[in-house]
Amino acid sequence: MAKVKTTFFCQNCGAQYAKWQGQCNSCKEWNTIAEEVVQKAEKTGWKAETPTAKRVAKPQRIQEIDTTRDARLNTKNNELNRVLGGGLVPGSLTLLGGQPGIGKSTLMLQIALMLPYKTLYVSGEESAQQIKMRAERINAEAENCFILTETKTQNIFKQIEAIEPDIVIIDSIQTLHSDYIESGAGSILQIRETTTELIKFAKETATPVILIGHITKDGNIAGPKILEHMVDTVLQFEGDRNHVYRILRAHKNRFGSTNELGIYEMQGSGLREVSNPSEILISKNDEELSGTAIAATLEGMRPLMIEIQALVSTAVYGTPQRSATGYNAKRLNMILAVLEKRAGFRLGAKDVFLNITGGISVDDTAIDLAVVAAILSSNEDIAVAKDICFAAEIGLAGEIRPVTRVEQRILEAEKLGFGTIMISKYCKIPKNNYGINIVKVAKMNDVVEWLFG
Ligand code: TYD
Ligand code: MG
Repeated sequence: MAKVKTTFFCQNCGAQYAKWQGQCNSCKEWNTIAEEVVQKAEKTGWKAETPTAKRVAKPQRIQEIDTTRDARLNTKNNELNRVLGGGLVPGSLTLLGGQPGIGKSTLMLQIALMLPYKTLYVSGEESAQQIKMRAERINAEAENCFILTETKTQNIFKQIEAIEPDIVIIDSIQTLHSDYIESGAGSILQIRETTTELIKFAKETATPVILIGHITKDGNIAGPKILEHMVDTVLQFEGDRNHVYRILRAHKNRFGSTNELGIYEMQGSGLREVSNPSEILISKNDEELSGTAIAATLEGMRPLMIEIQALVSTAVYGTPQRSATGYNAKRLNMILAVLEKRAGFRLGAKDVFLNITGGISVDDTAIDLAVVAAILSSNEDIAVAKDICFAAEIGLAGEIRPVTRVEQRILEAEKLGFGTIMISKYCKIPKNNYGINIVKVAKMNDVVEWLFG
């Protein structure tokens, strides 16, 4: 009997070793190296019988390359289209990652059901009945959606040849296995091999393929980092699992910007697209409550109004607590120090809790001023008027700094019916007559004076 050949692979970065060791030399992770069975086999193309065409690629002039073939496929889902940069590119591989239960399968099935093209949804995780039940909940009419429950790539390709789908969705890449590799499904070698086969298939037939990928506890796509290098687009589906809103963003996109963001709401009947996110992120109570302020932020090219909530109270225990949800905790500490030093607020002995509602997290520094307003409002117990929003960064000297694309923020605030927006005095705005009152501030003291007189 032939000796079984094994090699050691880092499960994080895919580096290969002759023997086991505790730390990976290339990515420096500990305990990620595991033994896998390797077996050399004659590799063929994605088609089982015919080996890949022996076409030799020749250099082409860039003007001569035809891009009309690459017209994007509209997924009928505006949020997804925007995140992809305008639709699915033929022959592209898209990887969708996210925590278990976040709704990856739901989103993909929903898209498969809505697409006007022939779609093949391959599931290695659920039975056809389970998928049907889910489809019934989503309640979409589908004529062109095929479901295949199979995990062996060779069998999948056989079915693909038979039905010739326009789009293939794989749920999930970690369940697939190829005959050419001995080690188990979900191992580095299997993921690498099955992805390579799928890439070959996608590029040769110009069929877009969407892969669902599991992510590990620390938020990386399970399996090797190389998976992210191999595919064209990496999308991440995130959000608080107990919260109804889900955010789709691109971490890598060979065909578009990675700044775009899609928002969905999880309902009993699947995911609903949220086309005006500002409405959902701002709470709708009429009472004026202290400790909340609205920030005009941008997610990608899209302006977004978010509500910042702060709670400042006297510390009960010796050490005051500082906690920030959705906002950088270091930045919160910095802002508290600036308030203490430059505006004379004694916050050193107070507990400060900060929260961005809607379960989203934002790293736009333009929300600093709203953070300041929320903290001061809670500290003074005076509500900030509901129709004011803020867009400015705070500097260490207590100065109010300008932010990028301020006009877009002003226009969004105006559109949503805000009466006043507070920005930095140093912002250059092209015109002076907006339908919204613009308050320009330069120092922390101006802000305090304007808000609390
Ligand atoms: P799922 O798509 O199975 O998650 P993933 O594939 O990312 O692991 O999502 C399952 C969750 O979504 C589950 O907790 C139930 C919820 N859900 C709804 O709220 N409404 C629905 O219509 C569907 C299909 C699922
Ligand atoms: Mg799933």
